[in-house]
Amino acid sequence: MSTAFVARSLDEVRFWSRIMKEHSLFLRLGFRCEDTQLINEANQFYSVFEAIENRANTFDKNTDPQVIQRFNVEVHTAVSHIWAFKRKILGLILQCQLPGANNFPLLVDHTSREAFYFRNRLEQLNAGKLDPLPDAIINENVFFLRIMADHAKFIGHLLDPSERKLVDQAREFSEDFDKLLFQARDLDSMRPQSQTPPLLDQFLDQNRVSVKSLRDFKKTASDLIAACRIKSIIHPLLADHVYREAERFLHIIDMFESALTGQPMPSMSFE
Ligand SMILES: [Fe+2]
Ligand SMILES: [Fe+2]
Repeated sequence: MSTAFVARSLDEVRFWSRIMKEHSLFLRLGFRCEDTQLINEANQFYSVFEAIENRANTFDKNTDPQVIQRFNVEVHTAVSHIWAFKRKILGLILQCQLPGANNFPLLVDHTSREAFYFRNRLEQLNAGKLDPLPDAIINENVFFLRIMADHAKFIGHLLDPSERKLVDQAREFSEDFDKLLFQARDLDSMRPQSQTPPLLDQFLDQNRVSVKSLRDFKKTASDLIAACRIKSIIHPLLADHVYREAERFLHIIDMFESALTGQPMPSMSFE
């Protein structure tokens, strides 16, 4: 247990607790007025993750690692609960128990995958067992490429159908990321033989190009939505949320790149 453990834990908890808090809001917005119980549950999760986020901001890299380890356990419990809540909602939607509600099943599944990822990261941190670099590169890319492909699909479906040009662009991103995801799964199944530095480096370079352009597309969409210049049912906070997740993926790619090539990275915050 060290300052690297503290810094890394705080970085993950600060980023993902805000994400979990926002998921609670998005889920709540998609429920029907009569779903008061589900609305209350979503509001409670919002408060829980807001409190976690605030506490994470009171700690810094000099906080006792044991305090952070206990904090991670508490956060882990909260994340397990929101994961179960999301899976319960998915079940209700898929059994047609919430007719007329506005959360896509894939979006609910997506947010549950993000919770699962966060929970797994907390377990790895507390166990002191992060994946070795070649495994981390493939695992993180398989996870995030699917997340990016989903985002493109959500944007395409939540834009007004009359925004034909933007809907087309979103569909192109969706297809691009589906292909990248298949490539990542191919590399995954070819493990460990596929984990050579040149192949991993090329994999990161190729993914970075697409993530950058999706990140820019999300930024533009987010600005246009905030300025009320395009027609959609996308909440401005959802547009910013998916933009931040792309930024995070880019940061992770850059971190891997520098670890792979031994080049120092100026803004490396995971150390
Ligand atoms: Fe998210
Ligand atoms: Fe997401």
